[in-house]
Amino acid sequence: MNTDSQTAIVTGASSGIGFAVTEALLGLGFNVVGNARSDRRLIDAATRLNHSSRFVHVAGDIADPAVADALFETAIARFRSVDVLVNCAGAFVAKPIVDYTEEDLDLLINTNLKGFFYPAQRAARHMTANGGGHIVSITASIAMQPHVRVPSVIPALVKGGINAAVRALALELAARNVRVNAIAPGVIDTPLHEPGAVENYRALAPSGAVGTTQDVVDAVLYLVGSRFVTGVVVPVDGGATAGVW
Ligand SMILES: NC(=O)c1ccc[n+]([C@@H]2O[C@H](COP(=O)([O-])OP(=O)(O)OC[C@H]3O[C@@H](n4cnc5c(N)ncnc54)[C@H](OP(=O)(O)O)[C@@H]3O)[C@@H](O)[C@H]2O)c1
Repeated sequence: MNTDSQTAIVTGASSGIGFAVTEALLGLGFNVVGNARSDRRLIDAATRLNHSSRFVHVAGDIADPAVADALFETAIARFRSVDVLVNCAGAFVAKPIVDYTEEDLDLLINTNLKGFFYPAQRAARHMTANGGGHIVSITASIAMQPHVRVPSVIPALVKGGINAAVRALALELAARNVRVNAIAPGVIDTPLHEPGAVENYRALAPSGAVGTTQDVVDAVLYLVGSRFVTGVVVPVDGGATAGVW
């Protein structure tokens, strides 16, 4: 993959999967503009990335369209163009439907759906004018394979909505050389979970394992380098979407 002087925007870049994707892309020579809400956590991430001159960050809630604008304006001013958008910022709340609150619904719709739509819309405008690009979003395999032990109708609604939108947008943009894909992780060991809690989730995959951020990074890098692949949702879930076990 020739990535010299390519630029990526990564949302959710200060932690977990987004941080690991940022680190991997920087390692391949990408410039990265990273986003999360907390400036302090982004500064901490920059420290862990050895203050790479190819990493800049823009703090703000990704549900706010002005933040998507700021990400693209910063990337273009600093690095000239955007080649890859990785939508990683997301929220997850699992509850029986009767227990979900309006706040839960707003959080999950805002972070996941608006956090997909506004950056993807800016990416579509920029990438079609710029000759091409790639949009990859991190969804969740539970949207494709619900589990009776993890009632989560709103995550299924919003992450499943992105999975559907990926195919629609891939078709819309294919002739303009913009690819659109998603990765649907199963349980991945990140700070999203309480420390040690992932051990309790091993039974949620037939492999009996939980995933690592590197498992997701591998899939992101595969998609970033795959010129002929668009409109797919790649499960990275130890087989959880393969069927009943
Ligand atoms: N870990 C899993 O088991 C798992 C499974 C399936 C899917 N996923 C998906 O993978 C993605 C990454 O999750 P993760 O496990 O890496 O979580 P994480 O370690 O908690 O990281 C989440 C990142 O998103 C940022 N973020 C959260 N809300 C945001 C908002 N409204 N605007 C901007 N940034 C925001 C956080 O920073 P701030 O808090 O500072 O904003 C942080 O950088 C999410 O979309 C999640 O749904 C994770």
